[in-house]
Amino acid sequence: MEFVEEFPKNFMWGAATSAYQCEGAALEDGKKENQQDVINRQIHEEYGYADASVTTDHYHHYKEDVALMAEMGFQSYRFSMNWSRILPDGVGEPNPKGVQFYHDLIKELRDHNIEPIVTMWHYDLPMALVEKYGGWRDRQIVDDFEYYARFILNEYKDEVKYWLTINEQSIVVNYIDRKNLISKEDMFNPKFRWQANHYMNLAHAKAAIAAHEIVKDVQVGAALDTAPYYAASSDPKDVMAGKNANAMKNYFYMDAYFKGIYTPSVLAYLKRQGLEFEIQDGDMDIIKKGSENMDFLGINYYQSACMKAPTPGAARRFKQNNKIGKGGKVTYEIQPDFYEGCHNDFLQDTDFSFPIDPDGLQYVLEEINDRYGVPVMICENGFGAYDKLEKDGSIHDPYRIEYIREHIKAMKRAIANGVTIIAYNPWSAFDLLSTSNGIAKRYGFIYVDRTDDEERDCKRYRKDSFYWYQRVIASNGKNLE
Ligand code: BG6
Repeated sequence: MEFVEEFPKNFMWGAATSAYQCEGAALEDGKKENQQDVINRQIHEEYGYADASVTTDHYHHYKEDVALMAEMGFQSYRFSMNWSRILPDGVGEPNPKGVQFYHDLIKELRDHNIEPIVTMWHYDLPMALVEKYGGWRDRQIVDDFEYYARFILNEYKDEVKYWLTINEQSIVVNYIDRKNLISKEDMFNPKFRWQANHYMNLAHAKAAIAAHEIVKDVQVGAALDTAPYYAASSDPKDVMAGKNANAMKNYFYMDAYFKGIYTPSVLAYLKRQGLEFEIQDGDMDIIKKGSENMDFLGINYYQSACMKAPTPGAARRFKQNNKIGKGGKVTYEIQPDFYEGCHNDFLQDTDFSFPIDPDGLQYVLEEINDRYGVPVMICENGFGAYDKLEKDGSIHDPYRIEYIREHIKAMKRAIANGVTIIAYNPWSAFDLLSTSNGIAKRYGFIYVDRTDDEERDCKRYRKDSFYWYQRVIASNGKNLE
């Protein structure tokens, strides 16, 4: 397959992180708890993984981290702001030290010629709002999200041009127990997920509109988890299941972001299943206006998935990831009368059961471009693995290099087929807390010396992939060897 040799001149190479997964300092300098502080304490009790109190201590190592990113040659860095560090109670009084932390981080990035790309919300709602009204459970969250968005847009408007509103809305809907703190009643109430999704669409739209009002030359997107949902066979029933999954898990979000509508076949399915959500008068106008204020789509791509015709009479089930690594299992999703997930035997899986599929990245990039014709920014892509720190301080991670190399080649093929890609920000700049497998599952180019059991000194080490990525960036993607 033909592909371009190198990337466009203004293409940005960098990497990504999120606040609660790397900052630590969970209760320092005026920050109050967010839902991930609480959720990760539960994960610690259940599985023994580290909690979010220290993680890889970026709050105290940010200067060193930025210097290492600059050494790799980064031109961009995607990170998120920790809402309860900035507004400890969700709304109202800001926390001066928290606000200052992001000014300092951005200054450090700019001093090293690294473009900051800021996610407003990456799973960490302030506990104050969860305690007050249940977070995404209540429509009040839409106004409070807008309040927070306007606050940070005004505060950092001269320093940040690229803004992402919400990280992985589809994942929040699908893994609502791990991305939100909710009652048992909500967890087993599938309707709640779609109502929360509607509130997220409103919150996203209001933030996108505000960004265009407040920030000059702004570029606004949202970061969405994307995957091609292949049919398990050419049996038309399997093909229909694959089509339904693509509509429900990709286009239902993208259609709201870029067309300001809800995908008709998914809306009809939800109604048939008694899962319709409340849309008040004027809501769709806000979502439509939001779509007119979108400049690009951020995509997070790790894996593809496979779908077959659902087992007749099977009950609704949500996907459970492999929680223990090697030997762990995935429980596949079922949407009754719509689709059922299954393993793809053509692909190899990581130790954490993520099927490795670079062609799938090309597939989604071209699908997005053909359907919406918008520029795309890769906001996440990466290989989670057990890395080993050798006695001499080296870390040999050929599997990560191989994974990223093949995904860069997939981007080259997509560019040759007309896709505009603004930046590549793989996950993650340095090691951090995984959402499902603690510190044990590492993604970084920079190794951080700590384990799930021991915090240690969080000393930073360069992995083999660090030097490899440095050469890729220096050649603008030409040299992948
Ligand atoms: C994305 C999230 O879903 O995948 C990140 O935006 C997350 O927060 C990443 O860390 C990898 O998932 P995991 O569970 O391996 O950490």
